[in-house]
Amino acid sequence: MAVTVIKGGTVVTACDTFQADVLIESGRITGLVASSAGVTAHEVIDATGKYVIPGGIDVHTHLDMPFGGTTSSDDFESGTVAAAHGGTTTIVDFAIQQKGGSLRQALDTWHAKAEGKAAVDYGFHMIVTDFPQSVSDEMGQLVNEGISSFKLFMAYPGVLLLDDQSIFKAMLRAGEIGALICMHAETGLPIDVLVERALAAGHTAPVYHALTRPEVAEATGTERAIALAEMAKVPVYLVHLSAQRALERVMEARDRGLPAYAETCPQYLFLSQDDLARPGFEGAKYVCTPPLRPAHHHDHLWRGLRTYDLQVVSTDHCPFCMKGQKELGTGSFAKIPNGMPGVETRMHLMYEGVREGKISLNRFVEITSTAPAKIFGLYPRKGTVAVGCDADLVVWDPSKKFELSHANLHMKVDYAAYEGKTVIGAPTHVLSRGRLVVEDDKLGRQRFHGKAGQGQFIKRGTFAL
Ligand code: URP
Ligand code: ZN
Ligand code: ZN
Repeated sequence: MAVTVIKGGTVVTACDTFQADVLIESGRITGLVASSAGVTAHEVIDATGKYVIPGGIDVHTHLDMPFGGTTSSDDFESGTVAAAHGGTTTIVDFAIQQKGGSLRQALDTWHAKAEGKAAVDYGFHMIVTDFPQSVSDEMGQLVNEGISSFKLFMAYPGVLLLDDQSIFKAMLRAGEIGALICMHAETGLPIDVLVERALAAGHTAPVYHALTRPEVAEATGTERAIALAEMAKVPVYLVHLSAQRALERVMEARDRGLPAYAETCPQYLFLSQDDLARPGFEGAKYVCTPPLRPAHHHDHLWRGLRTYDLQVVSTDHCPFCMKGQKELGTGSFAKIPNGMPGVETRMHLMYEGVREGKISLNRFVEITSTAPAKIFGLYPRKGTVAVGCDADLVVWDPSKKFELSHANLHMKVDYAAYEGKTVIGAPTHVLSRGRLVVEDDKLGRQRFHGKAGQGQFIKRGTFAL
């Protein structure tokens, strides 16, 4: 049997940092041994001076998703190839129930989008937009098929918004079947009024996206989501949390012992409302929902990551090109498709947090891989470096400089959100189930050795924390 060894590196997990060679056979980790042990291997990857970390897990992507009158520009091939280049080896994408449609139809559609295309492993959450009894029944079937989390929206009235009674019923059902409810917790109905009023006053520029979706709309939505979950006696997971007051609602809940969990995304830690206010239409690049906030929120979110009030950093990767997509909103910020690219740059950006002393190296691994694996039923198969785990591994060079420019990235979108920003720390080798999918050449340029279709659908377990 072919043996690969990653030699001479420092293995970093969510809790340990130690010197070991990592042995890989048949796609799994089969040993962690002292470098002196002298293992014979068919393939040797030299990790001297580098870290060996579990592959990144991004539990919030929107690939090939119809939204805002267009479709997100990365499909399962380009999106997962980009993920691999950035050191992410598993994604969990959102299938969407059509209003009046079944969850089965939505799941079949998303399987068809991903099969034969994904270059790294993937799972699905299901977005529920309509909640008749039949959907409640289907939730149980989906959990048996490895779709163990459901996203519900308090925002986007008439499109994705679900009323409180339906949310509450879905939560009760989730409790019966061990599923996790993920909430988009912006209170959408008043937001739509603010949007109408801004447009009526002639305010059409991208920055009005932020000015019509204030922090308080997210704070009150977060509080309501947690209250409904408390009434239903179930855990709840707040997606893409962006702001101080929403975080404080989560902290209060956790202080009361409630199982409230939350993720944030790099754009809320590194970008701000000032980017939305860039001259002309450039701010459209930064239209995502919830919106980018004033920069003073960054420190609160970093503190939340440090103190375990925020558990996960995902990307909400939902790219749209400026040309032909974002420009749908040149005359009205409300028509700019909501979403930003990010699946390829998450690990680089979060490692900046380590360099700047905002989070520890182990916490970096935890929030980008281990915690999402545990919360979303992928652990222990994925999310750590231990014997028996899938050999989804990244050799991370802490001294490699990398510019997050469009020319260096693989996401299928015509701009880079962090153009001009150079980070220090980047992957040199990325393995997906033991297969080397990305490797630096001698000049430090990334080479892709993977293939569309090599990614497998992963049946996730139920919520077990
Ligand atoms: O702007 C965003 N976030 N687009 C994707 C939809 C969502 O709410 O996650
Ligand atoms: Zn959302
Ligand atoms: Zn999203």
